[in-house]
Amino acid sequence: MKSLRILSPEDPAMTKQIVNTTKLKTWRRVYFLIFVAGAVALLLSGAAMSKFFTLKSFLGNESFYSSFNSGNQNEVIKTVRTVIQKIQEELENLRTTELDPTTSASVFKQGAFLADVLGLLESAVASHDEGKNRQTSNFDVHPLFKEKKRSDDEPADYFLREEIRKYVKIKPNRLGKQNFMGANATFTSIGHACFAMKEELEEYMDYDVGEICNDDWKLAQRLMVHGCDPLPRRRCFSRAPKLYSQPFPINESMWKLPDDRNVRWSQYRCKNFKCLANTTTTSKGFFKCSDCFNLTHHEMPRWVRLDGDSNQTSDFLITDVLGIKPGEIRIGLDFSVGTGTFAARMREFNVTIVSATINFGAPFSEMIALRGLVPLYLTINQRLPFFDNTIDLIHTTRFLDGWIDFVLLDFILYDWDRVLRPGGLLWIDSFFCLKEDLYDYLQAFEMLRYKKHKWVVVPKLDKDDREMFFSAVLEKPPRPFR
Ligand SMILES: *[C@@H]1O[C@H](CO)[C@@H](O)[C@H](O)[C@H]1NC(C)=O
Ligand SMILES: *[C@@H]1O[C@H](CO)[C@@H](O)[C@H](O)[C@H]1NC(C)=O
Ligand SMILES: *[C@@H]1O[C@H](CO)[C@@H](O)[C@H](O)[C@H]1NC(C)=O
Ligand SMILES: *[C@@H]1O[C@H](CO)[C@@H](O)[C@H](O)[C@H]1NC(C)=O
Ligand SMILES: *[C@@H]1O[C@H](CO)[C@@H](O)[C@H](O)[C@H]1NC(C)=O
Ligand SMILES: *[C@@H]1O[C@H](CO)[C@@H](O)[C@H](O)[C@H]1NC(C)=O
Ligand SMILES: *[C@@H]1O[C@H](CO)[C@@H](O)[C@H](O)[C@H]1NC(C)=O
Repeated sequence: MKSLRILSPEDPAMTKQIVNTTKLKTWRRVYFLIFVAGAVALLLSGAAMSKFFTLKSFLGNESFYSSFNSGNQNEVIKTVRTVIQKIQEELENLRTTELDPTTSASVFKQGAFLADVLGLLESAVASHDEGKNRQTSNFDVHPLFKEKKRSDDEPADYFLREEIRKYVKIKPNRLGKQNFMGANATFTSIGHACFAMKEELEEYMDYDVGEICNDDWKLAQRLMVHGCDPLPRRRCFSRAPKLYSQPFPINESMWKLPDDRNVRWSQYRCKNFKCLANTTTTSKGFFKCSDCFNLTHHEMPRWVRLDGDSNQTSDFLITDVLGIKPGEIRIGLDFSVGTGTFAARMREFNVTIVSATINFGAPFSEMIALRGLVPLYLTINQRLPFFDNTIDLIHTTRFLDGWIDFVLLDFILYDWDRVLRPGGLLWIDSFFCLKEDLYDYLQAFEMLRYKKHKWVVVPKLDKDDREMFFSAVLEKPPRPFR
């Protein structure tokens, strides 16, 4: 490629070109012929090669290169070499006419094109020879195919920003050893929906390595909620509150609004916890559980006291639920919208709960953490980060509601079933939906075939009577002999 020096069309020699039409026509024909011949040769060699590459090998079979080496690839390489030679001859011809001021711009264009093709073919042959020299390395993929594969397969090449490309690349372990996870490399991944949000992701990855990140957790959360989950890690320092004061000691932190200085408020509508807790604040930036920052009045009684008619409520008491399995419930997950009060209460019963949440318009994660509880920053898109049959209890409230797709609900429930241990409890707390949808939703929960310890359906009284509450405590059965 570099050996070819063709005048660019902008060259002064070109500006005053005298167009000799007959000559131009001849040239056009010649280059057309060259192009066709080249294309045919490429096609032939491509077809010959494709004999050796099944779809399977294309999709990453490691013995790819070795099968390539063992076949009739010498023949293929011979063809490629012939094509290279022919293109070189034509380019040589071109070079001799280079100085002729009457040649047109299209000649230069075609010359450049041919030089490109030549470069590709040469690098193909070069790396073939290289591969031959070190037969042991059968991870190598022929560059011709690499080019093709990359263009539609490799996520790294889809993105322009260097940080994403670096992130997505497979990272072999140093020292050539397996790591403790039994892998020879690290396969850092991003969700495929990241590809549909290319602009946002590139904006997210637009930072200076080692510097302070942009104040963009909201963009990050947007990406996650829309399926770009897991997000890539970044090599910049996340922004912190300007004056972080030490959190309250654990014997005080549970039921006290945290220090406002320990949260970055810039992306929230409310600018302090008082605003979030105040029942008269009209728009706090979020709607579900609008009172759940009011610890003293709204949160205190939850799950420990029942107000009103116990036959008309979908709330259960923690003591009743734990009473089903005295002493057996020790660890659990709360998949809810809230400030961690369930975990705070369960802590008093010596049960450790992690609270899965994201920051829907308010600092839920910060609040939970400042109370001294574990916030698990998790969207609904993800498989739960727990191993099968490990968790004693899953509690959920104000999260799965009548908005959720039936099939999605199925996937979520099966995933919860996966992580619950046999004998573990699933506490569906005040699930609500339209009356007409209730039957279908109940079917989804029935599908689990869990033992029903509690199961209530009551009307939801606030919204013109069109909705119902459903609550249940269900026990995952052992599944022996399977
Ligand atoms: C690749 O293919 C060969 C034979 O076709 C097979 O034995 C081998 O297991 C495959 N390797 C992978 C990683 O699929
Ligand atoms: C990892 O490397 C070792 C030795 O280098 C090799 O034997 C093993 O097959 C490799 N495993 C994988 C999954 O590639
Ligand atoms: C919390 O504990 C600390 C020491 O452990 C004690 O000094 C403080 O008085 C306690 N606070 C309350 C509200 O009990
Ligand atoms: C709640 O907000 C209202 C109006 O914004 C204010 O008058 C009131 O004092 C606030 N209440 C508390 C407890 O901060
Ligand atoms: C919590 O709600 C109660 C009554 O709804 C209200 O009197 C109290 O001021 C609220 N707490 C805060 C911190 O705003
Ligand atoms: C609740 O229902 C039970 C039986 O269904 C009944 O015995 C009890 O009196 C009811 N309680 C109230 C407060 O209505
Ligand atoms: C929790 O554990 C502590 C210490 O082991 C114990 O004193 C307390 O009674 C337990 N609380 C409950 C509700 O079991």
